[in-house]
Amino acid sequence: MSKVLVTGGTGYIGSHTVVELINEGFEVVIVDNLSNSNVEVLNGIEKITGVRPVFENIDCVDYVAMDNMMDKYGEIDAIIHFAASKAVGESVEKPLLYYRNNLVSLINLLQLMPVHKIKNFVFSSSCTVYGQPDILPVTENAPIKPALSPYGNTKQIGEEIIRDTIYANPTNYQSIILRYFNPIGAHASAEIGELPNGVPNNLLPFVTQTAIGIRKQLQVFGNDYDTPDGSCIRDYIHVVDLAKAHVVAVKRMLTGKSKDSLEIFNLGTGRGLSVLEIIKTFEEVNQVKVPYKIVSRREGDIEKVWADPTFANEVLGWKAVETVEETLRSAWAWELNLAKLRN
Ligand code: UD1
Repeated sequence: MSKVLVTGGTGYIGSHTVVELINEGFEVVIVDNLSNSNVEVLNGIEKITGVRPVFENIDCVDYVAMDNMMDKYGEIDAIIHFAASKAVGESVEKPLLYYRNNLVSLINLLQLMPVHKIKNFVFSSSCTVYGQPDILPVTENAPIKPALSPYGNTKQIGEEIIRDTIYANPTNYQSIILRYFNPIGAHASAEIGELPNGVPNNLLPFVTQTAIGIRKQLQVFGNDYDTPDGSCIRDYIHVVDLAKAHVVAVKRMLTGKSKDSLEIFNLGTGRGLSVLEIIKTFEEVNQVKVPYKIVSRREGDIEKVWADPTFANEVLGWKAVETVEETLRSAWAWELNLAKLRN
């Protein structure tokens, strides 16, 4: 049985990926410092899979603790590195926190990999590296634009650190960088989902929390963009589809199918939806109202971006299959289940 170390494994995308890894027969070791997640996520994972993954409460910035942890678990076949801070606004206020968390943890892992004979590395990147693309849908060959926030910069620099490291040591490393578009939704069981600390920054948790009455009103950031209804367009992808891509990526490296020691794939659906379309569809499929008002634009927002997923479809052999309706239903089912758990 192959063993995968998942950093950030109690987080939103991490927990869904752990479920898919276990379903596919992998042994999982989770490392997470619980800075933006809850240890109870392990109960949800166990309910879904029947397996409680090993969990270590460690900050990836702590080199010695990571070194000891790797000693403890012996042979690790691959690392999926999710652990990172991801709030764009906060990163503008606390740039050093973001550079330290996101870059030191990455450097630690890359340094420790050859020490522990770990070759395979999957990195969570973001479509934010494209900025506002000149051509849509955006392919992996689109130019990287100057980052609009320290968070975005950590993803760009992270990709460069990986590229340089592999270039210098091509026999020691093999990596797949996955550029996520906008993951939303939750596992069909509603046992795990997105659970941001405090007031959500991202659209979907704000939508579900408004629908259930935790927030009074959703603010739609701008309706004067150059889009059909004036609101921003994104490529929203079901988090389970996204999670499955990680399993495909790990298997690809373990079975020697990678065409290069570094490969980069867009993970999106290829379909762009506006903020107003998301709200309307959410209301329709769930038969619930989402009170909202249009406010001014949010600083740093991209007007429109959606993926060309052809490369991932054809070369990685992975495709997003969930409909947006099902995805929005799953997001609401998770919010309803959370309300039950709270009471
Ligand atoms: C942002 C980052 C992305 C990062 C992700 C992780 C940018 C350009 N992108 O994605 O790199 O990986 O966060 O957290 O910074 N919206 C509202 N009202 C709200 C919340 C959002 O109208 O209360 C709108 C936004 O203006 C945007 C869309 O919903 O048009 C999606 O926003 P969000 O979920 O925050 O994701 P991104 O900004 O696309």
